[in-house]
Parts: sequence; structure tokens; C-alpha cells
Amino acid sequence: MAILVAGGAGYIGSHIVDRLIELGRDVVVIDNLSTGHRESINPKAHFYEGDNRDADFLESVFSKENIEGVIHTTAYSLVGESMQKPLKYFDNNLIGMVRLLEAMHDHDVKYIVFSSSAATYGIPKHIPIKESDPKEPINPYGETKLMMEHMMKWCDEAYGMKWVALRYFNAAGAKKDGSIGEDHNPETHLIPIILQTALGEREKLQIYGDDYNTPDGTNIRDYVHVMDLADAHIEAMDYLMKGNASEAFNLGSSTGFSNKQMLESARHVTDKAIPAEIGPRRPGDPDSLVADSTNAREKLGWQPKYDNVDDIIATAWTWTQKHPHGFDDQKDKKLTNYDYEK
Ligand code: UFG
Repeated sequence: MAILVAGGAGYIGSHIVDRLIELGRDVVVIDNLSTGHRESINPKAHFYEGDNRDADFLESVFSKENIEGVIHTTAYSLVGESMQKPLKYFDNNLIGMVRLLEAMHDHDVKYIVFSSSAATYGIPKHIPIKESDPKEPINPYGETKLMMEHMMKWCDEAYGMKWVALRYFNAAGAKKDGSIGEDHNPETHLIPIILQTALGEREKLQIYGDDYNTPDGTNIRDYVHVMDLADAHIEAMDYLMKGNASEAFNLGSSTGFSNKQMLESARHVTDKAIPAEIGPRRPGDPDSLVADSTNAREKLGWQPKYDNVDDIIATAWTWTQKHPHGFDDQKDKKLTNYDYEK
């Protein structure tokens, strides 16, 4: 029996696949490689290139493989882009989810662990955020993730399909040996941008806004290591297979760091100056996002191994130094910023 990882060539998916293989599990990967990288998929997994929205493609994979459970990490996930191109997000994220649930239903697959997001909460009423807090997304990306959770809920009602939604906060870091890591283009995430600047691949970091309602005026986020996220997905699948009820869990460290603190930490880890300036706010950024992940710790037995940002940044730094141009290692690859004005 195999676990299917949808989006297994992506940043988080590839780390989940790697961990599953390390644990001796059978793994099937589907990915359309629109943002993922073939090179990031552990070669011991069975890889099928194709799109979640393609019912024929899913049918062929589900017929060929003996799938017991699905880990679903496939989604467009840029908050800023989703504000400009909401239909792109509704098409990919929602239709992809419907097709995947249909294939699961057709083949009597009863377990799904889904990559949800802190973006489902919108602007939190209090910090740290609990799972039961109001969910009022402030961007189409967060809206799609919430709707995808609801789709699973109704499939549980109708077909007894059991689900876990993992609402993660800021995924960060890389596998310790630096063999896989984060590679987006354009890159929008804070840590890779800081580290590419440390490496001299970028001229400077722009911190988006220092007039937020936080102690130093910059946004506060809760960074959680990608290998700890991978473990949580596997624990969540085991939790469902033991017959537990469907549920959503926050995954975070429960400690917030401001953008300025992250920069200081990276300067310390890399021992580089890392030029930075304050720029305008980026649309769609809440002041602070910090998780209360007590439930995941108690019910899933989740115990994150990385509990400080220096260690998390250090693993990302190993990856960045080994792969300054990402997986394809194109020396002339031009690092771009997402244009929020477009
Ligand atoms: N930031 C900068 N400069 C940059 C890049 C980012 O100041 O060049 C800031 C952002 O404004 C934000 C913080 O760094 O304050 C973190 O930004 P990221 O883009 O790294 O991450 P986000 O918090 O925006 O997004 C992450 C995930 C989303 C998810 C969200 C939930 O990438 O998928 O967390 O909060 F929706």
C-alpha cells in the first residue's frame, strides 16, 4: 500500500516524500512541475508527471497504484499574486481538490492529509491563534485553502472520508545535508531572499514596512522547520489510519519573530553584513501570525525538533550555499522579485 503525495516535487512535498522514503514507506508522487522540481523528488518514489485537474491522469495513477492515503500539498501559494489573479487560484486550487477527492472516492481511498495555511485565519483577533478562532481570510489564497478544508468536511459527511488539515505558519529551512530545499522563481519568501543577499546574488533585502502594530514595527511570523512539517504530515496520516476523527491542526513554533529579528539572526548565522532597507508595505500582510499548536503536540504527538530560528536559518544557509541557483544550477539564472505593483 502506498501514500500518494500530490505536489511531491514542491518545497514542502519533496521533504515529506524524502522522510516517508527514509521511514521505508511506499510513495507515489504526482506533480505537474509548474513550480516544483523533478530533481527534488527522491528517486525511490514512483513519479507521475501530470495535473490534479486532469481526471484522466488521476484515474490512470489511481488504477495503477495501490493507494491507501493521500497527502495533498498541491496549490498555488503566493498571497500577493492571489490578490491580483484570484481566478488562477480558484481554478488550480479548488478544481484540483475536487478532482483529487473524486479520484479518491472512485477508488475508495479514505484518508487525506491536507496542507492548509495560517492564511485561513485572516487578521487574528488574538495571538497565539487557536484552531477554533474565526477564519476570515483576507486574500484569495487563504480563501481557497479554507474552501478546500470545507470540501473535505462534506466528503467526510457523505462518504466517510477522513481528513486532517494542517494549517502551517511559515515553512522554513531545508533538509540538514542541504540536498533539497526551497527554490521558487520568482522568490517571494523572506529567508531565501535574505540568504541570497548574504551570498551576494541579490543587492539588498527590502523589508516590507516598519509601521505595523508590533514592537519594532515589522511583521511578526512563526517559522517552522520543513522537516518538522514533514513529520507532522506522516503523524497525521498515522493518526487517521488509527481511526481518529477528522480535525484541523495548527503547526508553528508558538514563538514569533519580526522581520528585523530574522535579518539579525541571518547576519549572525552567516556572518555576513546583508544590506537591507525599509520599503513600502506589501498588500495582504497581517501584523502578526503566531500559532498555538498545543493540539498537534497533544493529539498527533508532534514534537518539532527545531526550536530556534538560528538553527532553522542555518539549514537554509547550507542549502543556499550548495545550490546558489536552485535545483537547475543555472549560473546565469536571474533572480527576480515578484512585482506587487503589476
Ligand atoms: N518580507 C519582506 N521582504 C521580502 C520578503 C518578505 O519584508 O523580500 C516579509 C513579508 O512582508 C512578511 C515576512 O517577510 O512580513 C514573511 O513573508 P513571506 O513571504 O516569507 O511569508 P508569508 O508570511 O507572506 O507567507 C507564508 C506562506 C504563505 C502563507 C502565509 C500564512 O508563504 O503560503 O505564510 O501566513 F499563506
